[in-house]
Amino acid sequence: MDLLIVGSGFFGLTIAERAAASGRKVTVIDRRDHIGGNAYSEDEPETGIEVHRYGAHLFHTSNPAVWEYVNRFTTFTDYVHRVYTNHKGVVFPLPINLGTINQFFNAAYSPSEARALIHEQAGEFDVKDAANLEEKGIALIGRPLYEAFIRDYTAKQWQTDPTELPAEIISRLPVRYTYDNRYFNDTWEGLPTDGYTAWIERMADHPNIEVKLGVDYFDVAQPLNKKATVGQVPVVYTGPVDRYFDYTEGALSWRTLDFEREVLPVGDFQGTSVMNYADADVPYTRIHEFRHFHPERADRYPTDKTVIMREFSRFAEREDEPYYPVNTPEDRAGLLAYRELAKGEKDVHFGGRLGTYQYLDMHMAIGSALSMWNNQLS
Ligand code: FDA
Repeated sequence: MDLLIVGSGFFGLTIAERAAASGRKVTVIDRRDHIGGNAYSEDEPETGIEVHRYGAHLFHTSNPAVWEYVNRFTTFTDYVHRVYTNHKGVVFPLPINLGTINQFFNAAYSPSEARALIHEQAGEFDVKDAANLEEKGIALIGRPLYEAFIRDYTAKQWQTDPTELPAEIISRLPVRYTYDNRYFNDTWEGLPTDGYTAWIERMADHPNIEVKLGVDYFDVAQPLNKKATVGQVPVVYTGPVDRYFDYTEGALSWRTLDFEREVLPVGDFQGTSVMNYADADVPYTRIHEFRHFHPERADRYPTDKTVIMREFSRFAEREDEPYYPVNTPEDRAGLLAYRELAKGEKDVHFGGRLGTYQYLDMHMAIGSALSMWNNQLS
């Protein structure tokens, strides 16, 4: 074995694929019973509808090198992501755009009229002086839109009143003064034509790659554990950085999600893939309906059943799946301390969203793995 990779998400698999293609023998371990990390998807057994087990995953990128690379393993559909939100029983388009504004104010403002209105409403606070997330939100888009679309949704995401959340959580709240409600601005977007798992399996399909599932790096009972491998073989570690160092500098905080999946006896539940619920009286933040990610599979998917997934958000306990870094000042200090410790680890390379404690979209995880391969490992 020339390289041990801990974690079979997009970061780990990109390194594995590059190393294998250059003739290295690679072993990838993952403690889960499947490869692919959080991008893993599976067909729901009753309906055959592809569901994303760890939350909806939409691929998008403006990075030509990443786009060229991912197209070696999969083609992409022409799916374009759009999100809607239910506020007080009325559905509005997101991100906030001229359509949202005109529907909300029951008006027909032109772009410049809408801009002037929002500017006036946002004058209540100055962004620079905002003492908390609520004041910052109002300073960015004015109180009416903030209270309708941001306040309760944010409170549900963080289980904290926005007046008690730091202003830095949001840097900007995009408002578009056109009717464009395309969610992503990237050059390329789409979903893997035959699913995430087929894509991920193709990346790992090389005689030089051995994948071992259900293997935890910290389980001393299995031979490829930390103690037995560090210093013996180069390691790419994509698990949580604080876990690697036994939480000596404190546990970094994360938010997690709970998903409630249900098969419903209707052909179409909500007419779109993602519906947010903006208000406090609905406990979940959004509902995904997976059939809408693949309209081109209409002839394959049942017409009398659909799969939905309600999403709930909360702070993660140690045994929960870590999804989004909270990034408090203590977390940032802890991360710096872990980075110092990481420098002292002989030939261990920390990567991916857990290994670097940062939210990474798939194209970012793949892009940073390609950089690590080209600049440090190859
Ligand atoms: P990832 O978490 O995928 O893989 C890490 C792997 O390491 C896991 O398989 C884990 O089991 C394994 N591991 C950890 N500890 C271990 C140990 N001790 N021993 C062995 N294995 C261990 N991106 C995007 O582009 N579009 C989108 O729409 C979304 N949507 C989205 C929704 C939600 C809810 C989340 C949380 C994230 C997204 N993402 C996304 C981001 C996407 O999931 C992310 O880019 C990739 O998962 C990053 O891949 P990594 O390989 O870094 O981590």
